[in-house]
Amino acid sequence: MPPVRRSKSAASTAVHQPVMLREVLRALELRDGLRVVDGTVGAAGHSVQIRPLIAPNGILIGTDRDPMMLEYARINLEKAAAEKEIAGTPYHLCQGSYALLPEYLKKLGLPQVDRVLLDLGLSSDQLADGDRGFSFHAEGPLDLRFDTTSGKPASEWLQEWSEEELVEILENWGEEKFSRQIAAALVAGKPRRSINTASDLVNVVMQAIPVKVTRDSRKHPATRVFQALRIAVNEELRQLEVMLDEILPQCLATDGLAVIITFHSLEDRMVKNAFKKNAIWTNLTPKPIEPTRVEQKVNPRSRSAKVRVARRIPS
Ligand SMILES: C[S@@+](CC[C@H](N)C(=O)[O-])C[C@H]1O[C@@H](n2cnc3c(N)ncnc32)[C@H](O)[C@@H]1O
Repeated sequence: MPPVRRSKSAASTAVHQPVMLREVLRALELRDGLRVVDGTVGAAGHSVQIRPLIAPNGILIGTDRDPMMLEYARINLEKAAAEKEIAGTPYHLCQGSYALLPEYLKKLGLPQVDRVLLDLGLSSDQLADGDRGFSFHAEGPLDLRFDTTSGKPASEWLQEWSEEELVEILENWGEEKFSRQIAAALVAGKPRRSINTASDLVNVVMQAIPVKVTRDSRKHPATRVFQALRIAVNEELRQLEVMLDEILPQCLATDGLAVIITFHSLEDRMVKNAFKKNAIWTNLTPKPIEPTRVEQKVNPRSRSAKVRVARRIPS
């Protein structure tokens, strides 16, 4: 196994702002003794607040595919407990996908849990790490994996995906209007040109789409391409599908709550359909909860966030 990457700035403060914190804490209906899973623990922005609310008898399980984020989570959970001078309730951090939750629970001797929180997508700390390729301006390798210890980086996938596969990825997961032009540019040349850094990818995208579009675009013109490739490299929608169809029904106890924050319309649709159609759920959010105007202003990343909540009923 390749060595685990450690954050260059493990001791420094994480920059990620937890999204819709108040709304999420309210939706979770926390109390002493609950067994809570934060499936995308990140820098523990939500978990740091959850932990005291289930103390002293509760248990917190945080999972993340990214070893760097788990390091941030541990630092922040310890720091918060030290500052508040409370021992806090026990917590366990597990590296890997939330889709492997039954394995982590088995190791902990827990049959089921009472709450599952998912805050999907990318953390601002991952975006800020120039060695991952998530940010447009990074000169580091174009990796785009959450878990850099397994699978292949985006730069390698870009040598392997066919033009048709690339069109599909860009259309389905990026809703990219110029998917055909960009896919053609990505596979051009024999052998194909190497796209090793985020800047290389930005250059190809900029050359493939009309100048007027690059000039008038409010977002960076490569935003959708990066998003689509990241979703593909990490199989993000597949992980969510497994979670909704198999893991939650298996791991969430009767009366337990699932709280899911999405940032992408496809993910939101998947969660909405699962909560509506699967007989195990009482859907508590016919309309999703959205961030207040103030939060959107203070934390622009929250703008596309949607929170959906469902209660597990006996099957
Ligand atoms: C938006 S961040 C979570 C931020 C966190 N709630 C906070 O406030 O600090 C999403 C995190 O989910 C992780 N992630 C994405 N897909 C995952 C998966 N399938 N299993 C576990 N973690 C995942 C990412 O590595 C990232 O750290």
